[in-house]
This record gives sequence, C-alpha cells and structure tokens, in this order.
Amino acid sequence: MAFNPLSEKGIPIDRQLRNWSELNMQPYDKKSVPAYSRCRGIVMNGIEVEAVMFGHQMARHTIDMDLKRQLAMTRRVEQQQQKAINWLIPGEESTLEVTVAYEQVAVDLTAWVAQNEPDSYAKQVYEFGLLEDFDHLYRYANLLDMLESKKAEEIVQGLTEIMPGRPTNLEHRHPFDDVRMSLDRNSANPISLLHALTVTAAEQQTMNFYMNIGNRPQEPIARALYLEIAQIEEQHVTQYESLMDAGASWTEMLVLHEYNECYMYYSFMQQEEDPRLKQLWELHLNMEIEHLRIACDLLRSIDRKDPEAMLPKEIPEVLTFQSNKEYIRRVLADQLHMTADGIDIVPVDSLPKDHRWYNYRKTVNGPNDNSPTEEIINQERSAKGDEYRLQTEGEHPVDWLRWKHAAE
Ligand SMILES: [Fe+2]
Ligand SMILES: [Fe+2]
Ligand SMILES: [Fe+2]
Ligand SMILES: [Fe+2]
Repeated sequence: MAFNPLSEKGIPIDRQLRNWSELNMQPYDKKSVPAYSRCRGIVMNGIEVEAVMFGHQMARHTIDMDLKRQLAMTRRVEQQQQKAINWLIPGEESTLEVTVAYEQVAVDLTAWVAQNEPDSYAKQVYEFGLLEDFDHLYRYANLLDMLESKKAEEIVQGLTEIMPGRPTNLEHRHPFDDVRMSLDRNSANPISLLHALTVTAAEQQTMNFYMNIGNRPQEPIARALYLEIAQIEEQHVTQYESLMDAGASWTEMLVLHEYNECYMYYSFMQQEEDPRLKQLWELHLNMEIEHLRIACDLLRSIDRKDPEAMLPKEIPEVLTFQSNKEYIRRVLADQLHMTADGIDIVPVDSLPKDHRWYNYRKTVNGPNDNSPTEEIINQERSAKGDEYRLQTEGEHPVDWLRWKHAAE
C-alpha cells in the first residue's frame, strides 16, 4: 500500500530528544562517501535549518503561549536533527570542497525538480536558475584547483559535468527582476508546493553558508569569488521563495513544512546506499510523522481546517538524486541566453537597451565589466596553463562557451 505519513504512527515528541554523543555522529569518510549521499546530507541540513528558522518566525508572530511552547518543543528536535546531519561532514573536507558539493546539490536537485514539475511556469523558473548554479560549480572548481590543487571530479564523482553555465557576470539582475509569480495553493498540484519549499530551503542554506564562510579565505580572489556568488544566492532565494503561496496561513505553512520533511526523508530513505545514513533518514522520518500530526492538530484547532484537504492522499513520487547530464546539456543549448524581465523569463536580446538589467550589471561589475567569476578563470589559466573543466559527454553545447585550450 502506498505510504501516507498522515496514517503512520511516529515517535512521541517527548521521546525524540537525543544525548550529545548520539547527535555527534561519526563523520563520513570523504574518500569513500558516495557523491549523492553527501548531497542528500546537504539538502536535509538545509531543510532542517528552514524548519528551525520558520519555527522561530512563526513564534514571533503569535501571542498564543501554548503555541509558542509547542513550537519550541518541536523546534528543539529540528535543531537536534540539523546537528546530527551537519556534523556528518568531516573536518578533513575543506570549506571549498564543501562549497563544490553545495553547488552539485543545487545543480542536480534543481534539475530533478525541473523535470518533475507539473506547473509549466515553475518549471521554466527552475530551468532558468539551474544554469546559474551550474556556472557556480565551474567557477568554484577552478578555485579549488588553483588554491588546493584538488580536482572537483573527485567530489562530483563524474556524475555532474563541470563547464560554464550562464556566466555568473550575466546573472546579476535588478532585484525587481528576481521576484516570480506565486503558485496558487488551491489549484496547484501539492508536489509543486513541496518543490518550491525544498529548492528555497536548499538555496537559502547556500546563501547563509556563503554569507558566513565567504570571508574565511585569505586569498583576495577567493574572498571576491564567494562575495560575488553569494549575491546570486540572494537572488535565487528571492526567486524561489516568491513561487511559494504567501497567502497560506502560518499554520498551513507549518503543516506543509512538516509534510515536506516527511516526503524528503521518505525519499532519501528509499535510495540511500550507506546503511548508516539510511538508518538516520528512517529515524528522522519517524520523528517527522509526529511533527506532522502535531501540526495537523494545530491546523484543526487554530484555523478550523482539515489538513487532508491540502495534502496529497499518498506520498508523491520520491525526489531522487541522479545524474542529469543530458538534460542539463539540453537546457544549456536552449536557454543559456535568457534573463528575466519582471516575472517573465525572456531572451536577453529582447530587452530594450535602457533596461534596468544593463544598469544594474554596470553598477556591480563596474565600468570595466570586471567580475571575480571571470577573473578566477583568467588566473587559473595563467597559473596552471589551462582552466579546469569536466566534460564527460563532449564539447560544450553552446558555441561561444567551447573550451579554448590555453595552448591552442
Ligand atoms: Fe526536521
Ligand atoms: Fe550557486
Ligand atoms: Fe543558487
Ligand atoms: Fe519537523
């Protein structure tokens, strides 16, 4: 029978707390961890950070003391889940290696979501954003080679190609052009709402991560690269959060968050190859089933609404980490030349010459159109004799981004 978290029995909330040594899990071995196990950990960390921050925001918008206590209880557990997951990352993995893995997550998560998104507008938005994180992966991979003499292929394990996407210096848009049209929770397929929440949480974690660690390197080029890409992650959060239906009540949003956590842990439990991680996803799923039950009770008592009416009858098709090379090449060929005008994704050459896109780019890239994301490739070419790419499926699908070897 199909899985429905609403009819499962979870772990009672007061039995969900773990002690320090249970939370301080043995980190994975960076040499042998499967790339997509690492990716699943990064996504679930982002989902838990969102659960925590959403819980805090909700608590700051109510005067109901019982609700504040209930939120504090669940949130303490979300924090523990976040620790258990994020502490899986070993200290021997450098910040830059983790960064490359974050961008692999952005690429293959967004690619899967785009291919499985029923709403045509949202799908277009994911494909648009996909090409931007794809480019970040390439820029950071070059920094990794230059600073640490490490090849990003060891991290992505050949599952994701590394070559230019929409060049980052073209991604800078006026803030008005990153706000998208929102889904309608009453007419949208529930999976669309879950997709928007998941991708927003992942991008938000990337944004927070760069906000905090981008100033840790000593080398000026590394600091500059993080700074520029961090601003794009702000754009991405703006874009994806605007897909979510902000007309939902706080309680409805809480139910959706908890349902999504069930969906994500259920998905990852199905496909996890590392038995220790599989066990962790299963444990957390059993906690989330109870969080969902609590949230549904709150929806009934506060909003006087029926949670079944807003949730799928059974869990949707599982969200899957898989290699998406061919699909990404197609999107590169078709959509590299796009930008945004208001809520619309449009070809760059359709913009009038006085469009705010030009002015905004001139302001941030400066009068000489310099950007650290271009500079890193120049520096890598002069330091190492060539830039770093991982093109396992042949030449770049877009002519002007083909690899011009330094020696040629
Ligand atoms: Fe959670
Ligand atoms: Fe990115
Ligand atoms: Fe991003
Ligand atoms: Fe939860």
